[in-house]
Amino acid sequence: MFKHDKIERNSIILLLATVLVVSIGGLIEIVPLFRVEMTIEKVQGMRPYTPLELAGQNIYIREGCYLCHSQQIRPLKDEVERYGHYSLAAESMYDHPFQWGSERTGPDLSRIGGKYSDEWHVAHLTDPRSVVPESVMPPYAFLKTRAADLSNIGDHLKTLKILGVPYTDDMIANAYKDAIAQGTNEADTAGLTARYGEKVTSRAFDGQTQMVSEMTALIAYLQRLGNLVDFTTYNPDLDPRNLPDAGAAP
Ligand code: HEC
Repeated sequence: MFKHDKIERNSIILLLATVLVVSIGGLIEIVPLFRVEMTIEKVQGMRPYTPLELAGQNIYIREGCYLCHSQQIRPLKDEVERYGHYSLAAESMYDHPFQWGSERTGPDLSRIGGKYSDEWHVAHLTDPRSVVPESVMPPYAFLKTRAADLSNIGDHLKTLKILGVPYTDDMIANAYKDAIAQGTNEADTAGLTARYGEKVTSRAFDGQTQMVSEMTALIAYLQRLGNLVDFTTYNPDLDPRNLPDAGAAP
């Protein structure tokens, strides 16, 4: 008690003690961030966006879809029952900026990929109330009449590479070509699948073959959300963070 008295009366000692205590607190907050890669699960199937999907994400951001739609399924029973497996950190590791969102005026979209047909998305984006009569979502019909701006898509890949997304030089050099191949009914998609995997789906997503519209890019993006990770090979019990405390580990 009387020693504390000394600290309080001597401003230099008080200052040093304050700095010491605050830095310990600061270290505890900051140091784990340097090891953030440890918090991302090792999963199979995750890959960076194709150039067309990336163009679609750009439109998603430009139109502010994130203002009404989140992309994060919390590990809570009601959310998992409604939307599917809770979101893994690995699933948004290539999102710059991430699209987790904080507002859910509409449903969560993390696992929208494959839930509906392309035709449904075209009808829904053109006029949401034509398929969901009570919907309050605004219409985005104009996306079908505008060609997607793919002129600088290679530069976008290059920028994401600087941020750590594993795009290869080959992917960057062929970005424009790959976007066109994925968004049309073009027969030659060999290069695209060689670069991004067999599971990449390519077609005229909005049904128009004469141009790659913004709607095609957006639907290509939506149709891939949440269905890349192979959950048959993902075992949360083998995740180091979920192992029981020392001793009980298998
Ligand atoms: C003003 C809020 C709002 C905005 C902005 C908005 N939505 Fe929606 N969205 C909704 C609501 C509400 C629903 C649920 C009713 C329905 O299906 O239309 C919905 C439903 C959806 C669904 C179907 C989800 C499901 O699981 O059935 C998709 C896909 C979707 N929106 C995509 C988008 C995209 C893409 C954008 C941006 C171009 C967007 N939304 C912008 C409110 C919004």
